[in-house]
Amino acid sequence: MCRRQLGAWWVGVLVLLPSGASAGQLENGKDVYGPCAACHGANGEGGKGGEYPRLAGQPPVYLVGQLKLYQERKRYNVAMFPYTEPRELSEADMQDVAAYLTQITLPAKTPVFKDTDSALDRLLAMERVLVVPRVAGDVENGKATFKRSCVSCHGPEGRGKKNNPVLLGQYPDYLQRQVDAFRKGDRPHDKKTAGEGVFFKLEQKDVVDIFAYLTAIQDKDPEVPAAGSSTAGSGAAAE
Ligand code: HEC
Ligand code: HEC
Repeated sequence: MCRRQLGAWWVGVLVLLPSGASAGQLENGKDVYGPCAACHGANGEGGKGGEYPRLAGQPPVYLVGQLKLYQERKRYNVAMFPYTEPRELSEADMQDVAAYLTQITLPAKTPVFKDTDSALDRLLAMERVLVVPRVAGDVENGKATFKRSCVSCHGPEGRGKKNNPVLLGQYPDYLQRQVDAFRKGDRPHDKKTAGEGVFFKLEQKDVVDIFAYLTAIQDKDPEVPAAGSSTAGSGAAAE
């Protein structure tokens, strides 16, 4: 009974697969992810309030790109270096672990259960719920600033766009650390245009308000679609 239900649950996940990821790729991706889970959590949910970023649902090209940056020591992080050494993480493994992480959705709302759902199904579903801490700030200003300065690349509500990272449902402390790195020039904010300095034109208060906005809307939609999926990142919607 349990087994069959678990089987059905997996089929549900497989339907959401980004095109091109095979079952074999995902299986290997899950294996490759094993040692990563110690820091980034069993479901790619991150941990320690954002010391370890969430990885679930990020676009695959973005994930592979960041892994290469660590490997080439172009994005500096001592914790990530040993795990991205070429002998630890081949090019194929990078692709597979990214494909695996992309298809994990982490709702910010408790799912609605049916009477027939088993205790195990409920437990597995609850382990995936991720609510990041709310940031105090001016949500309206954050929304307006986000629409003006960020939405073109990060997509409506920060759900990611094409290969650009999802910001919705990411830990604000982690995002702030990246903003600090962008400002110091330690990490490029988009090779092409964002490097021209969106963060130099914004007051720190506006950045905090953006985080207030993103954390205020995180539980609006229980199923945040993966950025790599066809439903996200069209970028045409108003906000
Ligand atoms: C010892 C802890 C640790 C382990 C193990 C670890 N990571 Fe990380 N990872 C980190 C930290 C800390 C950061 C944030 C670094 C920074 O601020 O640049 C990070 C960042 C990342 C990022 C960038 C996320 C983003 O949004 O830009 C990716 C991708 C990533 N890790 C993937 C992996 C994968 C895949 C593995 C396993 C092969 C792994 N990590 C293993 C600690 C770890
Ligand atoms: C021109 C496109 C563009 C614009 C505009 C832009 N970004 Fe980005 N952003 C990117 C790209 C691309 C990355 C991935 C960084 C890289 O290239 O390594 C990124 C990365 C980030 C990250 C790090 C995410 C992570 O998981 O590590 C944060 C935080 C961020 N952007 C916030 C913002 C905010 C807030 C705004 C608006 C004030 C903004 N960005 C505007 C393109 C953009």
